[in-house]
Amino acid sequence: SMISVRTRDGELHSFEGRVGASLMENIRGAGFDELLAMCGGCLSCATCHLYVEELPKTATLAEPSIDESELLEGSDYRQENSRLSCQIPFDETLSGIIVRIAPED
Ligand code: FES
Repeated sequence: SMISVRTRDGELHSFEGRVGASLMENIRGAGFDELLAMCGGCLSCATCHLYVEELPKTATLAEPSIDESELLEGSDYRQENSRLSCQIPFDETLSGIIVRIAPED
């Protein structure tokens, strides 16, 4: 189950994802600590902000919760494809996903 992440320098990196962990946990676990995730996934910091650049054809993502949307409102870099990666559980259906780490607010 692969995850590809584009870091802020524009480089694309792919690694084997761990099912059951969030996208945030996967990205940090793979060593990409520019995704700060300061609150540890408790939906209070928005420093796990990324863009979903490509979703596998058969995959669907649940809509962001109201709390996630409200936190994203606070970012200067919000886009239509913005998500907080701590709120996305990684599973096999997401294998092949490509995300890009958002600029730091
Ligand atoms: Fe803080 Fe996602 S890690 S909101």
